[in-house]
Amino acid sequence: MSTTLITGIGELVTNDPARTEEGGLLGLLADAAVVVEGSRIAWVGPAAEAPDADVRVDAGGRAVVPGFVDSHSHLVFAGDRSADFEARMTGEPYSAGGIRTTVAKTRAATDEQLTSRVARLVAEMRAQGTTTVEIKSGYGLSVLDEARSLAVAAQFTDETTFLGAHVVPAEFQGATGPEDYVALVTGPMLAAAAPHARWIDVFCEDGAFGVDQARTILAAGSDSGLRGRLHANQLTFGGGVQLACELGLVAVDHCTFLSDLDVSALASSGTIATLLPGVEFSTRQPYPDARGLLDAGVRIALASDCNPGSCFTSSMALCIALAVREMRMTPAEALRAATAMGAAALGRDDVGVIAPGKAADLVLLEAPSYLHLAYRPGVPLVAGVWQSGRPVV
Ligand code: NIG
Ligand code: FE
Repeated sequence: MSTTLITGIGELVTNDPARTEEGGLLGLLADAAVVVEGSRIAWVGPAAEAPDADVRVDAGGRAVVPGFVDSHSHLVFAGDRSADFEARMTGEPYSAGGIRTTVAKTRAATDEQLTSRVARLVAEMRAQGTTTVEIKSGYGLSVLDEARSLAVAAQFTDETTFLGAHVVPAEFQGATGPEDYVALVTGPMLAAAAPHARWIDVFCEDGAFGVDQARTILAAGSDSGLRGRLHANQLTFGGGVQLACELGLVAVDHCTFLSDLDVSALASSGTIATLLPGVEFSTRQPYPDARGLLDAGVRIALASDCNPGSCFTSSMALCIALAVREMRMTPAEALRAATAMGAAALGRDDVGVIAPGKAADLVLLEAPSYLHLAYRPGVPLVAGVWQSGRPVV
């Protein structure tokens, strides 16, 4: 198997727990080198001690960080909602009802149209340093359209999530409609989706699905072998976060409106709070209290939530900058949340860390330090990306 030596790394962020004593939270290593063998990392250490390799790349003193792990995105959709964004910027509130506009467009799109849109967005993410991405369905909301959305997503990632419970579609509104729709989601739709999905998710919120419905849907998913995750407490206070903690879900996402009880449930359950600051930025909502959560001992991941409605960014670097500037996370906490903690939020330990045996997912920054990710917001700092050992940027 061919080997590549990346040397001359001025600052290497390893996230390796074995290096945190000397290298702080991020396990930093100065004047470092990494050897990649096939799709994996074979060696990490001081450049002066690096072994020989077939190919040699000189980082020229620049920083290398783990590829970003974006654990929350909705990339399978058609249409455009930039007019909703414009209206929000003049004072309209964000409304989950906008999801139905995208559902109509998505149903009308061909598989090829959906696939090429996802391909473009995944390429856009990769160019910005994202090497692992979770992709949800949720704009099909029929048996056929959810199954084909997931089949499209599965062409690009193993981390696929069935979100048939995004909103109740227009044709199910009315007296018994929502309960009939939950029966469809937990019955034929789940059966069609499960072969293409690893996870099941519910938008647990006023105007979407309640706590009891979420419990029913997650239980059905679990019976079909799907692990649960949840959208909760995005727009209002509610029981979603506590449900996620009670069920021991690996992650609960948004966590914008939290009571003290929610915070203590998160701290004691170990369920990761995935914060999506691009949403607050794009909807002009207050940001979640990341500082308070971290100080209470809650584990935090950061993700983009890339979607056409509440937040159409694919940039994890923007999320890091917002987390630091608006949510009082340290730059180190924010980068860790966008890498190793994103991996943990997907139940993964093979990505988000630069250590022997892990996936060779690396990002070379046009900067001497990872600090520049927050220090230089909006600047394209990604100079190179290796994904599973292959140079892709
Ligand atoms: O995570 N909150 C629910 N779903 C998306 C928004 C979807 C949309 O507006 O199209 C979110 O913010
Ligand atoms: Fe989302």
